[in-house]
Amino acid sequence: MTEGAVIETRGLTKQYRGGQLAVDHLDLTVPAGSVFGFLGPNGSGKTTTIRMLMGLIDPTAGTARVLGEPVPRAVRAVLPHVGALIEGPALYGHMTGRDNLLRFDAADPTADPRSRGARVGAALERVGLTAAAGKKAKAYSLGMKQRLGLAAALLQPRRLLVLDEPTNGLDPQGMREIRALVRELAADGTTVFLSSHLLDEIEQVCTHAAVMTRGRLVTQGPVAELSAGARGRLAVTTPDPADAVRILKELGVTDLVVDGDLVTGEPPTGSGGSSGGSGSDGDGGGDRETTDLAELNAALVHGGVRVRAFGLQRASLEDAFVALTGEGFDVAG
Ligand SMILES: Nc1ncnc2c1ncn2[C@@H]1O[C@H](COP(=O)(O)OP(=O)(O)OP(=O)(O)O)[C@@H](O)[C@H]1O
Ligand SMILES: [Mg+2]
Repeated sequence: MTEGAVIETRGLTKQYRGGQLAVDHLDLTVPAGSVFGFLGPNGSGKTTTIRMLMGLIDPTAGTARVLGEPVPRAVRAVLPHVGALIEGPALYGHMTGRDNLLRFDAADPTADPRSRGARVGAALERVGLTAAAGKKAKAYSLGMKQRLGLAAALLQPRRLLVLDEPTNGLDPQGMREIRALVRELAADGTTVFLSSHLLDEIEQVCTHAAVMTRGRLVTQGPVAELSAGARGRLAVTTPDPADAVRILKELGVTDLVVDGDLVTGEPPTGSGGSSGGSGSDGDGGGDRETTDLAELNAALVHGGVRVRAFGLQRASLEDAFVALTGEGFDVAG
C-alpha cells in the first residue's frame, strides 16, 4: 500500500460475461487529500472501476484497497466512510426529494435519528435543492436527480467521496455549482474521486487525474504535469495568414489551421515547448527549443509577414490525451 493512498488498485481487471475486457490491469493510486479526476471517453471503463471499488461487482482479477482496506472483502468496514454517487442514483420516484434523503439517512445505522431532519436539510441546502425538496423525485429533471444523489452522499462527513459523472445532466450553472461544492469539500479535507468525460471540467477542479481509454490506464499524476507533457500548438496572429502558412509549412510546421488572423499549427519535432507555458514567458534563454521557435518567428518576419503575436498555446489535458492516445476525445456524450 502506497503511503497516503486512499484508493489503490493493482492489476484490477473486469471482464463481463461474454464481453471484452471492460477494465484491463488497472494500477491506480489516489493520494489522500486530492481531487482526483478519472477521465475517459464513453465506455472506457470508469463506471466499471467505480463499481468494483464500491464492492458492487467483483473483479475478474487483481486487487483493490479503499481507505487501506481490501475490497470487496472489507467493504462493510469501508463504506461508512465513503459517500458515493454512482450512475443513475437509486431513488424512490413516488417519494419527495426530502423523504428520499430521510430514508437514506435512516438506512445508516450510525446516523443519530434526533439530528436526521437537520442533516437532511443541510444536505438539500448544499446541493441547491431546498426549494424543490417537497416535489416527488419522479418529477425531477436529470440534473435534480443528480443533485439529490449527491445530497445523499453528503449526509455524513466522509473521508472519501466517489462521484461518477456528478455533473451529468446539469446545465452550465449547475456544473459550476457542483465544481464549487467539490472544491469546498476538498478544502474540508475530503478526498474526492470523480469521473468525467469532460476534459475541461477535470482541468478546472482536479489536482490529479488518470486517463483511461478502452479499459486501460494511459497515464496518471498531478494535472499540471499531465498537461505539461503535451506540447502546445504554435499560434501566430497576423494580418497575412496565407503567407504565414506558406512559410511555416516550409519550415516543417504541420496541421496548419487558419481562423481569421490566427494561424495555429504543430511545431516541428524538437521545437515544441515542454513547459506547457505560453511561450511568451521568455524562460530558458538560449536553449534549443526556444531558439527553434525564435527561428520560426524570424523566418516569418524575414518573409514579410506582419507578426502581431507569436507563441505556444497552453497545452490542455485534451492535447495531452490526444498526444498520449493518438485518438480524438469524445466529448459528445
Ligand atoms: N453490465 C455489463 N455487462 C456487459 N458489458 C458491460 C456492462 N457494463 C458495462 N459494460 C461494457 O464495459 C465497457 C466499459 O463500460 P463502463 O460503463 O465502465 O464505461 P464508462 O467509462 O463508465 O462509460 P460512460 O462514460 O459512458 O459512462 C463498455 O464496453 C461497456 O459496454
Ligand atoms: Mg460511466
